[in-house]
Amino acid sequence: MAVKFCTAVAAIYGRVKLDVAIANVLSSIQKASDAVFLFGLLPLCISVRLRPNTEKREQEGRRETMSGSGKVVCVTGASGYIASWLVKLLLQRGYTVRATVRDLTDPKKTKHLRALEGANERLHLFKANLLEEGSFASVIEGCEGVFHTASPFYMHAADPQTELIDPAVKGTLNVLSSCVKTPSVRRVVVTSSMATVYYNGRPRTPNVIVDETWFSSVEFCKQEKLWYQLSKILAEEAAWKFSKDNSIDMVTIHPAFVIGPLLQPTLNASAAVFLKLINGSSTYPNASYGLVNVKDVAMAHILAFEVPSASGRYCLVESVAHYSDIVKILHEQYPALKLPEMCADDKPLVPIYHVSREKAKSLGIDYILLETSIMEIVKSLKEKGFVSF
Ligand SMILES: NC(=O)c1ccc[n+]([C@@H]2O[C@H](COP(=O)([O-])OP(=O)(O)OC[C@H]3O[C@@H](n4cnc5c(N)ncnc54)[C@H](OP(=O)(O)O)[C@@H]3O)[C@@H](O)[C@H]2O)c1
Repeated sequence: MAVKFCTAVAAIYGRVKLDVAIANVLSSIQKASDAVFLFGLLPLCISVRLRPNTEKREQEGRRETMSGSGKVVCVTGASGYIASWLVKLLLQRGYTVRATVRDLTDPKKTKHLRALEGANERLHLFKANLLEEGSFASVIEGCEGVFHTASPFYMHAADPQTELIDPAVKGTLNVLSSCVKTPSVRRVVVTSSMATVYYNGRPRTPNVIVDETWFSSVEFCKQEKLWYQLSKILAEEAAWKFSKDNSIDMVTIHPAFVIGPLLQPTLNASAAVFLKLINGSSTYPNASYGLVNVKDVAMAHILAFEVPSASGRYCLVESVAHYSDIVKILHEQYPALKLPEMCADDKPLVPIYHVSREKAKSLGIDYILLETSIMEIVKSLKEKGFVSF
C-alpha cells in the first residue's frame, strides 16, 4: 500500500497521469487499515502539491499580463460565475471588455465587475437579453473576439422549453448572427458544457476515457428529462451548424462541474450544489462527476481565443471524483465542517471514469488541483456568508 501511495504522490508531483494518481490515492484511502497512515501523510502531500502549482501560476500571470493590450472583446452574461472570472482575467491581460448583463441597475450583477482591477479604464457594461433579437449587435461592434457564456443554468424548470431551451438556443443564434454581421470579429468562443459530451447512455467506468469525440444524445436526455443538458446540446448543435454555414471561426469550451472562488455576491447553480454538501446534509449522493476550477475555465476561454491553432471542442475536467471522495478531502481540510457521513443509498458506489486532458493541455491549460479548488470554494462560500463553521 505504501508503495502504491508513494507512486501516486510521485505521479501527482510530476503532474503525470494526475487523475489516475488521484484515483490511486483515493482508492488507497478506502482501506480502513491504511487510513491512519494516509491521513498522517495527506496534509504533507497536499502542501507539497499546492506550492509549485500556485507559484507557477503567479509567474505565468506576471509573464502573460497585457497580452490583450489594445484588443477589444465582448463577454455575454458577464455577471455570471464563470464570466466574472473571464472578465477579471481579460482585464488583467490588458483587454478592453464590452460586457453584457441583463440588469444594469442591479448592483448584485455589476458592483463586483466595476470593482475589478482595470475596470474603470477598460470595462464597458451594456444591457442585453438572449431573447431580444439584435440585442448584442451594438455591443459586438468593433470586437475582435466574442465570448458567449450567457445561458440559463439551473436544473429544475417548470417549463424547460421557455426557461432553458429557448434562451440557450435562440440566444446563441442571436449572438452568432450579430457576429457574422461584424467584420471585426475574428473568433467566437462559446461556453458549452460536459453536459453535451457524456449523456448518451454509454457506460462510464474506470477503464473508460471520455474525450471530445463523445456526444450526448438528445433522445437520452429527453427520456431522462435532463432539460438543462438538452438545452446545452441543442445550443451547441445550432452553434456548429450556424458557424459552419456562415464560416465563423468558433471554438466551444466544455467544462465539467465548476468549483473554485466566487467573485459575484450571489450563489450560482454549481456553487449551490457544493454548498448543499457542506451545509448540514446528512447524506451525500451516490454519484461521480468531473470537476474543474473556475479560473482554469476562464483561462481556457482566453487561450481558445488567443491560440491561433485552437479549434473544435475542448473538454475541461481536472479530475473525476465520487461524492465520497470529495467528503474525504473536505474532512481532511476542514475538520470543523459538519459533513454527511453516509451515502444516500446502499448500492455500490457509482464508479469514476476518466476524461482526456490531451486537448486542453494543447491549449496550455495546466489544471489547478482538485484539493485546491475545494479549499478555494469552501473559503469563498464562508467569506461570503453562505456557510459558517
Ligand atoms: N458552473 C458550471 O458548473 C458550468 C459547467 C459547465 C458549463 N457551464 C456553462 O457556463 C455558462 C455560465 O454558467 P455559470 O456557471 O457562470 O452560471 P451563472 O452564474 O448562472 O451565469 C449564467 C449567466 O447567463 C445569463 N443569462 C441567463 N439567461 C439570460 C438571458 N435570457 N439573457 C441574458 N443573459 C442571460 C445570466 O444573467 P443574469 O446574471 O442576469 O441572471 C448569467 O450572467 C453557462 O453557459 C453554463 O451552461 C457552467
